[in-house]
Amino acid sequence: MADLSVTYMGLPLRNPLVAASSGLTKSVEQIRKCEESGAGAVVLKSLFEEEIQAEIDDQSGGTEHTEALDYIRELETAADIQIYTRMIRDAKEAVSIPVIASINAVSRNWWEKHVPELVDAGADAVELNLSLMPYDFKDSESNILDFYLRTVEAVRACVNVPIAVKVGQHFTSIPAFVDRLKWAGANAVVLFNRFYQLDIDVEAFKLKSGSPFSTPDDLSLALRWITVTYGKTDAELVASGGIHAGEDAVKALLAGAQTVQVCSALYKNGIEHLETMRRDIITWMDRHKFSSIAQFRGKLSQKRSDTPESFERLQYIKALTERE
Ligand SMILES: Cc1cc2nc3c(=O)[nH]c(=O)nc-3n(C[C@H](O)[C@H](O)[C@H](O)COP(=O)(O)O)c2cc1C
Repeated sequence: MADLSVTYMGLPLRNPLVAASSGLTKSVEQIRKCEESGAGAVVLKSLFEEEIQAEIDDQSGGTEHTEALDYIRELETAADIQIYTRMIRDAKEAVSIPVIASINAVSRNWWEKHVPELVDAGADAVELNLSLMPYDFKDSESNILDFYLRTVEAVRACVNVPIAVKVGQHFTSIPAFVDRLKWAGANAVVLFNRFYQLDIDVEAFKLKSGSPFSTPDDLSLALRWITVTYGKTDAELVASGGIHAGEDAVKALLAGAQTVQVCSALYKNGIEHLETMRRDIITWMDRHKFSSIAQFRGKLSQKRSDTPESFERLQYIKALTERE
């Protein structure tokens, strides 16, 4: 039977299906369920600096007394970090698959101070959810890129565990950016984070949220960038966004993904859907006589293509002209 085992940032995984960071990975009970359902690894729900900051603002009740505010800030932050590190410890005791902590912060000292605490608690790796929403016209592109790279360098300098960086899709050059993240200290780059989806209610004249969940169509974005980036950087590539079935995972692996992350499909079908996906990958591998994932990873990437130019502009022109 096909062997699904892979390594991810040096960690051995029994298969490439990773339960993505979400509300489904925020309790030990659910993390255990991910393991029972066949996940290769689990990324915990992110620890959000801004969420903690919002709690602090609530707690401070409008006080402007600096010392009081500092005190509340430290207490609240310590309490939240303690809850998170306890979850890491409990999860590590409860499961044998790798447990990856996830953190989203906006201030540099927060990363430097708290990532080591997650590692001390036993996290096998950390995933930095680096999601900036640059609304300010003064935020230049180079400043933003600099923030990403300096943050990864700062975290790399204070921990020894593998680091994955999860980013959004809005960059001028994804391949170059992935490679720069690697040089800054990232072992893997997760392509892509799914941001809050903005929608508009035209009757109520109000902004509203779109669906938080992806559809399989969303996968094409990760496929595009993984096919052209695979094999040209030492960063491992992780597909995230639109992986709903075993076949979607196979597509991402053929593109060159090291592992794939699943989230919306688990909300829709239950965590046990991982088992169906795993079985479907095996069935596909058996049908095509592959005994290991390494035999076909990146098979459809630009690097391994006989017609690499077809991945670039030609692909776009072909899509347009075929419609005429
Ligand atoms: C309800 C929900 C909560 C999420 N929470 C987090 C989070 O805490 N941290 C994070 O990095 N990503 C979070 N995500 C994003 C997912 O990890 C994933 O990157 C995204 O949903 C795309 O994958 P999918 O198409 O399989 O859903 C969340 C997604 C959903 C739907």
